[in-house]
Amino acid sequence: MSRSTSKKSLVVLVSGNGSNLQAIIDACKAQRINGEIVAVISNKPNVYALKRAESANIPAIVVEANKLTSREAYDQILLSEILKYSPDLVILAGFMRILSAEFVQGFQGKMLNIHPSLLPKYKGLHTHQRAIDAGDDEHGASVHFVTAELDDGPVILQSRVPIFAEDDSDELASRVLEQERQMYPLVISWFCQGRLIMNNNKAYLDGIELEEQGYAAN
Ligand code: GAR
Repeated sequence: MSRSTSKKSLVVLVSGNGSNLQAIIDACKAQRINGEIVAVISNKPNVYALKRAESANIPAIVVEANKLTSREAYDQILLSEILKYSPDLVILAGFMRILSAEFVQGFQGKMLNIHPSLLPKYKGLHTHQRAIDAGDDEHGASVHFVTAELDDGPVILQSRVPIFAEDDSDELASRVLEQERQMYPLVISWFCQGRLIMNNNKAYLDGIELEEQGYAAN
């Protein structure tokens, strides 16, 4: 199998704290990811993720929508900003804005998302509380290729955590985030090694089609 050796350029989209971004920055620095973050773009000003980017000397850009900006207009501005950096991969890391189908189409197989649930369960918001309310005994996070549907697209890797009787959603969220910070850099490293691709709406690792729940280590 051919493995690419040149560093991939990565653009990371964020909206908040950016702890996943930090894990990716650290993994690039430690050369666990054969890639370089060339820009971090936030749809919200003044979020901590932007500070994390600045501290790592990565261009930190805000592309904010106002009430008058239509989804299409916003996505056009975002697209032109991203294209300035010609990324090999666009990484959604806590980016809390729905992207139009047209936008996503342009990045088929080149855009990843992390979502705090065991997809296909609990797409959308408030996933931790919903898992608690449903009486689930486990929860987790999924990394997937982005396709036009919200929180959809082929799953690459899932990580599971237990839900304990005394958990509130904050406690559960931090348990899940701990897993996210491990799994997202790993998946990005696979992509940057040329081992991970999407074809016909399916994810392949080392040429092997991944199951509905993604890669299973055991
Ligand atoms: C993470 O839990 C991520 O999975 C979630 O937002 C959080 C961002 O945390 N993303 C979504 O809900 C997307 N649907 P971070 O800013 O500390 O990385």
